[in-house]
Amino acid sequence: MKAEIIGVDVKDLEDLRSLEEKLKKAARLIRKGGLVAFPTETVYGLGANALDREAVRRIFKVKERPMDNPLIVHVSDMKMAESVAEMNEVALRLARKFFPGPLTLVVQKKELIPPEVTAGLKTVAIRMPCHAVALKLIELAEVPIAAPSANLAGKPSPTKAEHVIEDLGERIDLIIDGGETNIGVESTVIDTTVHPLEVLRPGGLPLEKIRELADVREVDGFKEVTAPKSPGMKYRHYAPNAELMVFYGKKDDVRRRIEEKCLELSKKGFKVGILAMDSEAYSGLEAEVVEIGTSVEEAAKNLFSALRELDRTADVIIAEGVEEKGLGWAVMNRLKKAGKFYRV
Ligand code: TXA
Ligand code: MG
Repeated sequence: MKAEIIGVDVKDLEDLRSLEEKLKKAARLIRKGGLVAFPTETVYGLGANALDREAVRRIFKVKERPMDNPLIVHVSDMKMAESVAEMNEVALRLARKFFPGPLTLVVQKKELIPPEVTAGLKTVAIRMPCHAVALKLIELAEVPIAAPSANLAGKPSPTKAEHVIEDLGERIDLIIDGGETNIGVESTVIDTTVHPLEVLRPGGLPLEKIRELADVREVDGFKEVTAPKSPGMKYRHYAPNAELMVFYGKKDDVRRRIEEKCLELSKKGFKVGILAMDSEAYSGLEAEVVEIGTSVEEAAKNLFSALRELDRTADVIIAEGVEEKGLGWAVMNRLKKAGKFYRV
């Protein structure tokens, strides 16, 4: 089966009526149990009716995702959220401030959500995406949409429709192409059922912002976790096929180490790719250099796409670490999970 592709022009987003016409078909497909990939402000999602257990099972199958890794349920308004989840006081406080936006709240689930969605957990992850296409799609479908990132399990998340086509183009019903996603890393996942709250995944909403409203504790998902709080923590993630090495520390030291490593590897005959904030620094080297930008926001936006690009040619990818502040925290989390980390 080849997915049909619908293009939505970003300019249309202002014209909600024309957008609605385009998305009606996608919404009908969701209601009939189909799988539809759609853009959000973070990454592309692979959506199914969250109340349809057969459709949800298909998500796991086409992504080759382990069944014990639960899905995020996407809603278009608070009424829909309350129909499937117990929105506790702190969850409501965070939702009021950050919904719609790149934040996912883990709360107690209600009966309506089948166990396939939550991998049997009593909690459910709720998110209201800040993207006109995603919101309109959920609203028209009139059901909450369960959606993981629209990549094959373990691969970098898709920030462009082409990435979805590459991984899932032959396995799903429809892809809504809304251009490149804005933030580029997935939502921040917060467990609101514990005190203090716990960050299960750093993401598109910086922790500093959440801390203005609530006490939040970091759980170390970087180490080997035996009984992970968030099942997603225990799997290898975001990983290109090439080996990935991440160097982190003072800028000049990092650059020197990367140069040395690159020379060493190319002498041995390996094709090297470098993921750099600024490509100038590596212009003399025998390596494919992809620049992800000098701010953490740019780095977040370009990270997954750059990993996919380098993966086409490189045997080994060497990346510069970024400062673990704001979105940089999410970028480093993805790099650490995808590869080996060296402090210089
Ligand atoms: O930005 C995003 O969050 C994107 C877009 C499409 O919305 N979605 C996304 O979904 O990244 P996914 O499936 O790739 O990641 C969901 C994460 C996983 O780490 C999973 O373990 C965690 O959320 N999760 C889901 N339900 C949970 C629950 N009830 N308790 C703890 N963690 C949960
Ligand atoms: Mg994912």
